[in-house]
Amino acid sequence: MHVPVLFDEVIQALQPRSGGRYLDCTLGGGGHTAGILSASAPDGRVLATDADGEAIARARERLCGAYADRLTLRQAWLDEAPTLARALGFAPLNGVLVDLGLSSDQLEAAERGFSFMRDGPLDMRFDRTRGEPAWMLIERMDVQGLTEMLRDYGEVRNARRVAEAIWQARPILTTGRLRDVVAGVARTRSNRIHPATQVFQALRIAVNDELRRLSAALPELIALLSPGGRIAVITFHSLEDRIVKEIFRRESRGEVVQPGFGMGKDRPARVRLVNKAPIVPSEAEVARNPRARSAKLRVAERLASVQV
Ligand SMILES: C[S@@+](CC[C@H](N)C(=O)[O-])C[C@H]1O[C@@H](n2cnc3c(N)ncnc32)[C@H](O)[C@@H]1O
Repeated sequence: MHVPVLFDEVIQALQPRSGGRYLDCTLGGGGHTAGILSASAPDGRVLATDADGEAIARARERLCGAYADRLTLRQAWLDEAPTLARALGFAPLNGVLVDLGLSSDQLEAAERGFSFMRDGPLDMRFDRTRGEPAWMLIERMDVQGLTEMLRDYGEVRNARRVAEAIWQARPILTTGRLRDVVAGVARTRSNRIHPATQVFQALRIAVNDELRRLSAALPELIALLSPGGRIAVITFHSLEDRIVKEIFRRESRGEVVQPGFGMGKDRPARVRLVNKAPIVPSEAEVARNPRARSAKLRVAERLASVQV
């Protein structure tokens, strides 16, 4: 069962209240959603989405008994959630949560193919009904494409060598096989990290198109907030955190990216940063839940009145 990360900090950031409308774009095991529902009793409403239909089905069993009239569950990618929230009448929103990455349920299910610690098919799709599994993506890529993917999404040190080894070993159909191929060639900066960690991260990001979805979704989610409404984003690695930091910074200065012209400054700031530095878990939380180790929470608050 997934243990929600930075639970108290998220509830404190979103300040859920009765009558409010909230969007949790990464339902996972439903811990944060349950917290928002409980804190916004008796009549706060939550729309909770996730690309993973299995997470939705589990949450339906777990949460709908207690919260059926206040909780709406839908399977959707992060960048589909804003349109869905509008269509379902949830806008403007009082709060949005994005808690990126994997849930423990996904990591521990060998058949999902997310973990090199468990042998299973090399799948890694959050939504197993759409798109290409990781093994198929590898089949389709050339060495150059694999190298760029490992470098850009995994910050893998000797990306070219690892890419060549992967390419030569194709077809790689299982997590165990990929782990063994990588272990033969990869180096990491730290002895504490298995060399396959960054390779698996890179593949997962590519399979689910995670960074593009994050960049596309954040401005749309900010646009859906009511004045004073807050967006809280938890990231688990520097690539994600850099995107959140940069978009929040731009939105707090009124900067927009104009294709072909770089940065422009032609609208008022839409948010203020609630915390300058990201919020990180306490030592006690990391001791209780080592998966919280690399989490960073950034929070922004919507400023001006909005048309949604
Ligand atoms: C860390 S878990 C969320 C845990 C949740 N907050 C809880 O309390 O249990 C991340 C969840 O977000 C989903 N997810 C990650 N990236 C996504 C994306 N780009 N679009 C939709 N869902 C995504 C994953 O399927 C996973 O279930």
